Amino acid sequence: MSEESAEPTVPNGLTLARDLEELTFSPGVGDALQAAPAPIGFVPTMGALHAGHAALIERAAEAMSRRKGGTVVVSIFVNPTQFGPGEDLDRYPRTLEADLRLCREAGADVVFAPSARTVYPDEHLHPGGIAASVRVGGPLTETLEGSHRPGHFDGVATVVLKLLNMVRPAVAFFGEKDWQQLAVVRTMANDLNLPYLIESVPTVRDADGLALSSRNRYLSPEQRAAAAELPAALFAARAAIAAGDAPAEVERALTDRLSAAGFAVDYAAVRCPTTLGPPPAKPPYTVRILVAAKLGGTRLIDNVAATRTA
Ligand code: PAJ
Repeated sequence: MSEESAEPTVPNGLTLARDLEELTFSPGVGDALQAAPAPIGFVPTMGALHAGHAALIERAAEAMSRRKGGTVVVSIFVNPTQFGPGEDLDRYPRTLEADLRLCREAGADVVFAPSARTVYPDEHLHPGGIAASVRVGGPLTETLEGSHRPGHFDGVATVVLKLLNMVRPAVAFFGEKDWQQLAVVRTMANDLNLPYLIESVPTVRDADGLALSSRNRYLSPEQRAAAAELPAALFAARAAIAAGDAPAEVERALTDRLSAAGFAVDYAAVRCPTTLGPPPAKPPYTVRILVAAKLGGTRLIDNVAATRTA
């Protein structure tokens, strides 16, 4: 597990907490943990922050400013357990100092950037550093990302639950960009009666439509130009659903268009927005169109809502 070792410059007005003790006694958090409900807005991230993350932090800051003494906590932790063998854990971008500035500018009060040992402390006792974990089972985690990244959502659910329990926010914010992750987190929160509200924030896109992602920086300039075809194809699929095309037909057209543009398509699926199972048989309906595709060595995911009224 690689760690960023150099101590970064911390902007004025921001607290950087590197372990649980520092988090618990950071201004705002320690006091807030005593209150019920704790007026903390929380944005979990893996860093390499961009305007999509900033939108989540701004939403949290807006929600917290309505509550006296509200605090916005952002976590930055590249969680090893949600990466599969051969995935990009080792080369995942780590840009802590720039991340701290973005956090401050977007309205964060505390950044929790724990070491792997803080999150998974007992490496000598258990492989992986912890003995307990949480798992959202069933079709929701077996399909789409779940079938292409075995174990991914187990790692996500467990680290999100751990982070929520460490920060104990009133509200936690997740992006629609990772629609299936949002559904998994919502299911975990509902099924286990977690005392945290889960809120979602729409996907932030570049001018050409490409959803912002920390992984976009892996793209060469040529690949970055070609990547705009992914949202363009998704928006066309949304229009096709609205015009009455059958979901299976839309999935085929989407796959063909992306393959023709040089993508290796993992899936292009029209699904029920909450279960991610098959869409309703008869209109009217609102569905989610979800895509994962590789451009060279970079895997991109995106999704949009689509509605057919009659
Ligand atoms: P990460 O990929 O850093 O994303 C952190 C949060 O930012 C997620 O909720 C994600 O959906 C949101 N996000 C990313 N790009 C976005 C965009 N373009 N517009 C809006 N929101 C966007 O997702 C993770 O980290 C991890 O799995 C995590 C939940 C932190 C658990 O390790």
